[in-house]
Amino acid sequence: MKPFYLTTAIDYVNGAPHLGHAYEKVLTDVIARFRRLRGDRVFFLTGVDEHGQKVQQAAQQRGIPPQQYVDETGADFRALLPLLNISNDDFIRTTEDRHKRVVTRLLQQLFDKGDIYLAKYSGFYSTRQEQFLQEKDRQPDGTWPEIYGEVTEITETNYFFKLKQYQAWLVEFLTTHENFIFPRFRQKQVLEFLKEPLNDLCISRPRERLAWGIPLPFDPQYVTYVWFDALVNYYSVVAETGQWPADIHVIGKDILVPPHAVYWPIMLHALGLEVPKSLLVHGWWSVNGVKMSKSTGNFIEPAEYTTEFGTDALRYFLIREMNVGQDSDFTRAQFLVRYNSELANNLGNLVNRTLNMTTRFAAGVIPAAGPAEAPEQELQALWTTTRDEVIPLCEGFQFHAALERTFAFVTATNAYIEKRAPWKLGKSTTAADQALLRTSLATMAEALRLAAALISPVMPTTTEKINAVLGHTPVGWPDELAWGARLTGRKVAEALVLFPRPLPADKAPAKS
Ligand code: ME8
Ligand code: MG
Repeated sequence: MKPFYLTTAIDYVNGAPHLGHAYEKVLTDVIARFRRLRGDRVFFLTGVDEHGQKVQQAAQQRGIPPQQYVDETGADFRALLPLLNISNDDFIRTTEDRHKRVVTRLLQQLFDKGDIYLAKYSGFYSTRQEQFLQEKDRQPDGTWPEIYGEVTEITETNYFFKLKQYQAWLVEFLTTHENFIFPRFRQKQVLEFLKEPLNDLCISRPRERLAWGIPLPFDPQYVTYVWFDALVNYYSVVAETGQWPADIHVIGKDILVPPHAVYWPIMLHALGLEVPKSLLVHGWWSVNGVKMSKSTGNFIEPAEYTTEFGTDALRYFLIREMNVGQDSDFTRAQFLVRYNSELANNLGNLVNRTLNMTTRFAAGVIPAAGPAEAPEQELQALWTTTRDEVIPLCEGFQFHAALERTFAFVTATNAYIEKRAPWKLGKSTTAADQALLRTSLATMAEALRLAAALISPVMPTTTEKINAVLGHTPVGWPDELAWGARLTGRKVAEALVLFPRPLPADKAPAKS
């Protein structure tokens, strides 16, 4: 059986990774972990995009050879993965032989097929986006949109891939595969874009302009255009394993049209290969309304937050705050609101109370629950609806809503504790109160175990820690998500500090 294959975009290594890159990896990781919990075999690929003008320029500015440059900068991107607890199965660098071999083979195949020809090119190029631009990309006032950075005019003889002849096929494909792109409004944008005739795609740069790339097998005076090279990464890693096609490519909205929605499906189709099953397109993180970017330098480094608050807190915030597909502004203030009220005060409080009261009133051993009365029944019923809503929400990439529901269940559990007030029951010596005390301790522990299970794709370490203090070994989904009596007789730890109170704003490390 082919594993469920999912990928992130591969990052340009022209600077340090920022929160936008972190988000994409965490989002993809959440999907990978969710799938694994549901029993799928998963293959999760991420990596770096090491060729192209942008990297060549950055290396020149540092006065070092591009290979040394990508070796150094790429290390920051690799270090991001353990920092964020990303469970990728492979990591691709486009300078690796296993990748270059496949790019070379595919180019030769298209050339032999007659899909590549030589012609003179004259037009505009954005190095920041590594993209050829057209007059129609200009703004009404004649300037180029900010996202393209500096735009240069080039006139060169180059090799072209016959994109145009596949346009009708692509339109047909998108029309008959309505769920190819998530969110769906993006698919409509692609069809809108395809109303204009496509230009053939320039797939080379003359060596004297750009030496840092994969030489064309049929003309070594040229290197491969970086997007043609980069897109192939998704295929090159599995070319010999039978794991193609990818099930989901996770990408940002800036690289949907044309690279992922136009070039990539057409390249594959022309090669007689299957196209990916779907594209998941997320929005942008901005700072004060401006897109976070390596090129402009207005970015937040993930380590700033993981160091101060922990990896899971950052993962939680990224997934809770952003509705997949839309944009979000990142502010420390909003981070602190969620950290304090949702993680520390809500979930952290439930953990503290459960451990503390089990220790005080039951010698640290989770008692067996007596018959469920109305408050227990209500909480159990809420659990069932929560779980039954959260799973389809995750399947539909509505992770922010899934967390919102899960934390509403945590809130309800805290309210249940208020209602039962075990601290009062603990002072009473009547048999009825003692029985109720045991029921309430068992109920809160079970509710905590279940909430912890449901957050595990997003906060895997937190789940592990909670399981550990509850003396619980997870049994795997779906059994893990069933309300029951698994914890009866377990010895709990006395305390667990999951989300320590942050420093007051004036004592916190300076924000860069
Ligand atoms: O585009 N918010 O690399 P890249 C959210 N090498 N996501 C963001 C973001 C932000 N502020 N800034 C960037 C490339 N990203 C190519 C990809 S794939 C075959 C080649 C996302 O380093 C961006 O949308 O510029 C993209 O998905 C990823 O980070 C890498 O961006
Ligand atoms: Mg970019």
